[in-house]
Parts: sequence; structure tokens; C-alpha cells
Amino acid sequence: MRAGPGANRFTAGDRVYSRVDAPGLGAFAEFVCVPEELVALMPQSLGFAEAAGLPLAGLTALQALRDELRIQPGSRLFISGGAGGVGTLAIQLAKYYRAEVTATASPRGHALVRELGADRVVDYTRENFAHTLEGFDAALDAVGGRTLTRVFRILRRGGRIVSVAGIPEPKTALQDLHASRAVAILFWVVSLGVRLRAWRAGVSYRYLFMHASGDDLRFLAGLVDEGYVRPVVDSIYPLTQIPDAFAALETGGAKGKIIVTMDDDSPA
Ligand SMILES: NC(=O)c1ccc[n+]([C@@H]2O[C@H](COP(=O)([O-])OP(=O)(O)OC[C@H]3O[C@@H](n4cnc5c(N)ncnc54)[C@H](OP(=O)(O)O)[C@@H]3O)[C@@H](O)[C@H]2O)c1
Repeated sequence: MRAGPGANRFTAGDRVYSRVDAPGLGAFAEFVCVPEELVALMPQSLGFAEAAGLPLAGLTALQALRDELRIQPGSRLFISGGAGGVGTLAIQLAKYYRAEVTATASPRGHALVRELGADRVVDYTRENFAHTLEGFDAALDAVGGRTLTRVFRILRRGGRIVSVAGIPEPKTALQDLHASRAVAILFWVVSLGVRLRAWRAGVSYRYLFMHASGDDLRFLAGLVDEGYVRPVVDSIYPLTQIPDAFAALETGGAKGKIIVTMDDDSPA
């Protein structure tokens, strides 16, 4: 790491991690320039590859649970996609906040999701949870589609749903993306069905687009070093094998994060 003129929170050589903000998304590079407010010292107990698994999924899970769902000790929380990048961190954060957690996973992810602290695991390949679960205070949906539709049926009235994979709504445009009113109106239209569903079920619905934050990364690093949270790494690919990394991502069912490193000799 190097610090530019005017940046004084870090010194050259610090082991840092960051989430690039929205305008800089969409590329893989060895070097990137980021505002220091978006940077934090990475967890001391992790190497670079493992730490790379934290920012996107960790910030998403943290901001969903803490800021949107306002999870409290004893909250009954449902998480779809429990074995994925967001889900594995959300389960651990929810247990840090002392919530009672039910998560979905296909059989290959069951043991992992249990080990991370889920109190109950639902095999979504065999069980339609809309018929077997009810009364949840809050839900984090990391799957979208039909899964999200089912989530509306298992919440108590007054409950909250946050999706990171469903349909964006006006707040996503105005609050998360700082987009124009025209985009907010477009999102209002596309989310009409899901908002009606929420209104009928008596719950709130929010599509969260996470935001980059050095403060939140510092908080997450502390939780990792204190042993509350660990990133789950599915596999590591060198940059030269990036098509294989994308192919693995597209097949779905990664357990935790797929990481790309700049080293040529990383194990795939
Ligand atoms: N809005 C945001 O700010 C934001 C940020 C990060 C990610 N995302 C989005 O959030 C979603 C999840 O991200 P991720 O990194 O966790 O993805 P991921 O690592 O690919 O995990 C997705 C999980 O979904 C599960 N799944 C697939 N089909 C399912 C179904 N029909 N029912 C229930 N579970 C199913 C899989 O579980 P099994 O392994 O058990 O099959 C998998 O573990 C993606 O759509 C991603 O683009 C959004």
C-alpha cells in the first residue's frame, strides 16, 4: 500500500483492505486508487487471499443485518443462500448479534452452515419452506426469484425483508445508488409487484445495494480477530485463470467466496 498526498490515516506498507466504491467497480487489477475513508487495516489473523473474501460479502451482510433489519438479541432471522458468500458471513454476524438463525442450503452446504452457527438448516431442494416455517421477525434474501416470493409467507406482520438479489425499489436508487429521480421512478414501477406483496403481508421490503465503508471494514476486521467471524473461501484462482473462476461462479453452489489472486502459482 502507498498513501497519496493528503492521505494520512495509513502509512506505506500497512496491510489494508478495501471495497472499491460504485464508480470504480467492474475490473480486476493489481493496483487501484481508493479514498482513504474506504480503507481499513485488514484483520491481523488473515492472509491477503482470505481477507479479500470479506469486503463485498461482509459489508453486504453487516449493512443488511445491522442497518436495515436491526437485528436484536433473540430476533428470529431467516437467511436464504446460507452457504454462499453473503450467507456464510450473515449467519456468523447474526450469531454475533445473538439472533436465532434459520438458513437455507442444499445438502452440500448443510454441515458448513451448521458449523457457522445456524440453529436450523432448511434443504431448499427438498422442502418448500413457505409451507413449513412461519413467524420470523426478519429475513435476508440472497437468492431472489421464487425464493424471495416464498420469504413473504414466513414473516410475522410487522417483519422486515431485505433482499440483495431481488427487485430494486426506489430507496435503492435514491439512498444506495444516489441515482436520479427518473431511476427511482423506474425502480418504483419494476418493484410494484414485490411492494404490493409486502403490503399484503404487512411487512417491509427493501432491496439493499451495499456501500463501501472503511469504518465498517474496521468493525469487521475486529470481529474476525476476536474470533466471531471468518471468511469462508471456496477456491482461489490466479489472475491468469480468471475464466475458470467465472465458470466456477456461474455453475453456482460455491461454498463461501471464490478468490482471484495476482500470484501465478495459487492453487485453483
Ligand atoms: N445488492 C448487493 O449489494 C449485493 C452484494 C453482494 C452480492 N449480491 C448478490 O447477492 C447474491 C448472493 O451473493 P453470494 O456472493 O452469496 O452468491 P453465491 O456465493 O453464489 O451464493 C449463492 C447461494 O445461493 C444458493 N442458491 C442457489 N439457488 C438457490 C435456490 N433456488 N434456493 C435457495 N438457495 C439457492 C446456493 O446455495 P447452495 O450452495 O446451498 O445450493 C449458493 O450458496 C447474488 O445474486 C449477488 O449478485 C448483492
